[in-house]
Amino acid sequence: MRTHYSTDLSIANVGEVVTLCGWVNSYRDHGGVIFIDLRDRSGIIQLVCDPKDDPKSHEIASCVRDEYVLIAQGKIRPRGEGLNNPKLKTGDIEVVISHLHIENESLVTPFAISDENVNEELRLKYRFLELRNPKLYKNFALRSKACIAARNSLANMGFLEVETPILTKATPEGARDYLVPSRVHQGNFYALPQSPQLFKQLLMCSGFDRYFQIAKCFRDEDLRADRQPEFTQIDVEMSFCKQEDVIKVAENFLKDIFKACGKEINTPFRQMSYKEAMENYGSDKPDLRYDLKLIDVIDIFTRSNNEIFANIAKDSKKNRIKALRVPKGDTIFSKRAMQRFEEFVRKFGAQGLAFIQVKEDGLKGPLCKFFNEEDLKELSKRCNLEVGDVVFFGAGNKKVVLNYMGRFRNFLAQELNLIDPNTLEFLWVVDFPMFEQNDDGSYSAMHHPFTMPKNIDETDIEEICSIAYDVVLNGVELGGGSIRIHKNDIQQKVFKLLNINEEEQREKFGFLLDALSFGAPPHGGIAIGLDRLIMLVTGAKSIREVIAFPKTQRAQCLMTDAPSSASNEAMRELGIKLREETK
Ligand code: AMO
Repeated sequence: MRTHYSTDLSIANVGEVVTLCGWVNSYRDHGGVIFIDLRDRSGIIQLVCDPKDDPKSHEIASCVRDEYVLIAQGKIRPRGEGLNNPKLKTGDIEVVISHLHIENESLVTPFAISDENVNEELRLKYRFLELRNPKLYKNFALRSKACIAARNSLANMGFLEVETPILTKATPEGARDYLVPSRVHQGNFYALPQSPQLFKQLLMCSGFDRYFQIAKCFRDEDLRADRQPEFTQIDVEMSFCKQEDVIKVAENFLKDIFKACGKEINTPFRQMSYKEAMENYGSDKPDLRYDLKLIDVIDIFTRSNNEIFANIAKDSKKNRIKALRVPKGDTIFSKRAMQRFEEFVRKFGAQGLAFIQVKEDGLKGPLCKFFNEEDLKELSKRCNLEVGDVVFFGAGNKKVVLNYMGRFRNFLAQELNLIDPNTLEFLWVVDFPMFEQNDDGSYSAMHHPFTMPKNIDETDIEEICSIAYDVVLNGVELGGGSIRIHKNDIQQKVFKLLNINEEEQREKFGFLLDALSFGAPPHGGIAIGLDRLIMLVTGAKSIREVIAFPKTQRAQCLMTDAPSSASNEAMRELGIKLREETK
């Protein structure tokens, strides 16, 4: 129907007759001449309906209201002297209408399409209206480009796109499964895949050699700004490879994706061990756009005359004492600020937050009295302290201290405005521990139980390291992967350490174990979170902005009203009866 999208047109098209289709963004009656801002997915253009040009169009224009659908024909002319609108891409021109047709009317919308200050619930309920905003549309245009680039890049590297089942069996990613009841096999359930992990390994056992998929994954977990219950991964697996081969492939396709999104990135990315990331940044996904490293000072604290600190310092395997130097921290430091900082770290388990200020006449703060002159000098030297600095200290259980000091580091970087939003800091975190201890003392696989260990025969389970790697961008975990176990004996050792007995192994992963027994090749892979990637490329604050129909924090779709109850009939067919208390 149309000859152009509105923003295809510019001063170069003056004199051309065009047909445009779109929605009424706004309209104004200026003493007989009606101006309509017509919006299509590309942007906005001004239509002019003057009775002198075409009385019929003018009459029709007098009936239009916001969000009516129009088909408009007219001639492009430059706007009058001083009437240009620099805010619009088409702000130098307008269309003098010769034919106007109202294709459809619209009720009054619950919010103006361009209004971004509407509460999110209302916007999500009418998501189809919110998506009319060209600003939001841009996110999806970019997402589409990124997917096409990923496909082309992986296809060029010899990867084959293969789809794997959605109705399947539980996958070992560690979140809760979404279950789907079977009508045919009453009392049995499919699980929606948390990732295509096991299937992609099976495809390697089938000799496909290089697989990829832009895959939907489902995880029933607590939601955050960068988590949705259903999300998309660029999922990759390859055979006869080592960690560095997978890393190279990932860097290649990420480079191509970013290029398609208009951003050049440099490869290879920096690499850092998990241990280094945790000890220096208190996070396995450190944001490297700013420095603020954590500094180990536990040895100095062993000599302090404060019993609490000295006791903590005694056990340097279980505990940590970390300093966080804030250069020119004086600028943000006050009693009230300190209260806020303390409140912040207490949320993550800190007992308190000690500090020292560096003044012209030396170190100041309640902590100083616990150290002798020499140790204070040593602290100063270790932390590189300068006049005007403030240094904070976290002390206690290793896991707790690293967690709250890492978060505090991010918090301070924001307070101090240290983050350049235009830089892209990629990082590979490597050498993850194979196992992590649960609160009840048992161990779980940190990645998943099919990850290849580097040193399975190590006697200290906490020292067993896996061949796993995460790619981090600006402090967000963008993706993760590993080299997999392809030999049954190693797999058995891992299951044993995880306390997964033979019966459970067969029941959960029997098909994979079978496949490993019929000549499985060495293999490994990675999955990149596509939603997170697009969130970071577009600068969106939440992945909800880059998912067309997202769910709320409470995992609901306000537009379709999902999840909703099922009819008695449907429940009967599925053999399901609700418990009294859930009715
Ligand atoms: P993992 O569980 O680390 O690895 O997931 C890979 C990437 O998927 C993204 N992601 C999510 N994005 C949005 N919402 C969520 N709820 C969510 N959960 C994960 C993240 C994450 O880095 N099978 C392995 C990969 C492999 O080993 O090849 C896996 O799924 O960006």
